[in-house]
Amino acid sequence: MSNGDARPIGVFDSGIGGLTVVSALRRLLPHESIYYVGDTARVPYGGKSPTTVQRYSLEIASLLLRENSKTVVVACNTASSVALAALEAELPVSVTGVIAPGAEAALAVTRNGHVGVIGTRATIKSGSYERALRALSSDVRVTAAACPLLVPLIEEGWLAGEITEKVLMQYLRPLADAGIDTLVLGCTHYPLLRSTIGRLLGDGVSLVDSAENCAASVRALLGREKLNTATGQTGRLRVALTDPPDSFLRIANDALQLDVGEVEVRAIG
Ligand code: DGL
Repeated sequence: MSNGDARPIGVFDSGIGGLTVVSALRRLLPHESIYYVGDTARVPYGGKSPTTVQRYSLEIASLLLRENSKTVVVACNTASSVALAALEAELPVSVTGVIAPGAEAALAVTRNGHVGVIGTRATIKSGSYERALRALSSDVRVTAAACPLLVPLIEEGWLAGEITEKVLMQYLRPLADAGIDTLVLGCTHYPLLRSTIGRLLGDGVSLVDSAENCAASVRALLGREKLNTATGQTGRLRVALTDPPDSFLRIANDALQLDVGEVEVRAIG
């Protein structure tokens, strides 16, 4: 019997928010090994230009290829928004981003066809979610808002409380007033604010993120390309960062209940 393809799935994000996608991958594909790189030396990507994010993404992806990754998952909304095409053109393996899976998740739950999207400046400016949503449904209505203050609040561990709620309401009120019934958490950090956002928006608005659907896309891809590992083994998770870990790793770890183990520090280049 064949051992299948035991090479790891390479996953990257600008930082460690992409562990939300790793968590979904671990649940759905427990036999697969994962090599994760968080570019913590250069996070955040969200306020940087597309050219810079493309360069960073290609550099991190080449690190994943050096680890023999059989496929690459862009677990970052900003990089998926502005660098997916460059990665697909340059890499010798298939690439999965988080935008199309997030759009699919939103369309599966919206009842009134009006979807809100929140993300970094670069993600919202790129219009990636609007394009992905419209490609799947011509009559969807989209209201998007850049929320640049949320990533710093989350990295500080301020996942609830008065200040975080005030900032959130400043961003979310126009979306709620516009009549959205579904909100895409279009940034890998935002699932950590899910319960606070849910409380502020109430039951009338469904919250979706890309993680589960992204993991489902990767599972389908492995099947299509015959890249599955043998089911008898338990996959290994290795996490590397480009700068030594700080307290945010603990915050994310606790929130995701993911055991990342010993973190490697990898220099870029
Ligand atoms: N990982 C980024 C994203 O999903 C958020 C953090 C950043 O700005 O780099 O958009």
